[in-house]
Amino acid sequence: MNRNILYFDNAATSWPKPEATIMTVDSCLRETGGSPGRSGHSLSIDAGRVIFNAREVLAGLLGIDDPLRIVLTKNATEALNIAVFGLLKPGDHVITSSMEHNSVMRPLRAMEANGVDLTVLPCSTAGELDPGVIVPAIKKNTKAIFLTHASNVTGTIISVADIGRIAREHGLVFCVDAAQTAGTLPIDIGAMDIDLLAFTGHKSLFGPQGTGGLYIREDLEQVISPLMRGGTGSRSEYEEQPDFMPDKFESGTPNTSGYAGLTAGINFILSQGLNTINAHKKSLTKLFLHGIGAVDGVTIYGLKDASRRIAVVSFNIQGMDPAKAALDLDERFGIMSRPGLHCAPSAHRTIGTFPTGAIRFSFGWFNTDEEIYQAVEAVRVLANQK
Ligand code: ALA
Repeated sequence: MNRNILYFDNAATSWPKPEATIMTVDSCLRETGGSPGRSGHSLSIDAGRVIFNAREVLAGLLGIDDPLRIVLTKNATEALNIAVFGLLKPGDHVITSSMEHNSVMRPLRAMEANGVDLTVLPCSTAGELDPGVIVPAIKKNTKAIFLTHASNVTGTIISVADIGRIAREHGLVFCVDAAQTAGTLPIDIGAMDIDLLAFTGHKSLFGPQGTGGLYIREDLEQVISPLMRGGTGSRSEYEEQPDFMPDKFESGTPNTSGYAGLTAGINFILSQGLNTINAHKKSLTKLFLHGIGAVDGVTIYGLKDASRRIAVVSFNIQGMDPAKAALDLDERFGIMSRPGLHCAPSAHRTIGTFPTGAIRFSFGWFNTDEEIYQAVEAVRVLANQK
């Protein structure tokens, strides 16, 4: 690389990856070349072990007792599609929030067109969802609540434990989109009453792209149809899809080397400590919010309190199109950010930035205080030049 890069797009995908992630993908491709759970030869068994290890470390991180309750997917989007299309039927009612990403919203809107009754609860302009609005929204036919754990636009953390309790009390399925939080915030599916947890591997879990998963609470798999059907390496004598976990939802040869890298990424988190990582990202966020908060012409979205948000900060510079600002930040300062709507038009409507959106900086473990000072200075230069 021939120029200094300030990478602030960790909400889209984390970068750089830990060396262990890269080395493990490399060694898996070189040495563990079989198809897992299929052929029965040594390399196939080794590959099967890679897949099982991935489930085990994920289960450990997320407070899941049985690793086989985790369906490995290619990302959070696939996991959410399994949950939405597999669970909901015409005539069901479902509740979600106005801060959702399109990976929740688009499948739900598609089901709405298919006869599902959808309630989108409005959030505050800072992206908060008041748990008090859930109960009044529940109807006789409400089946599930789908919510993000933290917004990819404002970083606002949603009180999932409070809402999980309400879901449990009313016998509703509670599905949490942890795309932005798995590997950042502590998640305990038991303590939070989570029935379905969708996550991705390539963001805060430090895995490669093309990895992710869906946790499914015990017995719930019986009422969820698979998104795909095909070879699983199990019950090969039957032409019908197996009905047990995780094979019901895992057809086709998986991304073994990707899950090997994901395991290494999670082990990296465990070696640093999740709380240490979280504290570092919060400190960077606080520093950045403080820095750009003092720049004239900058509007910051979301909560002022860094402890109630993840390391995602969206903002605008008065009189500057966010896409143009992001281009300038890249060309002049080597800053990688994401402008626009962040695949979350409803969230931008909620915070009042639709249709042009905002500039988003999202910080990661490998960012430093010095990089934040440079970022603030770059924003100051752009804001002053107009
Ligand atoms: N949803 C991802 C983001 O926020 C891709 O950038």
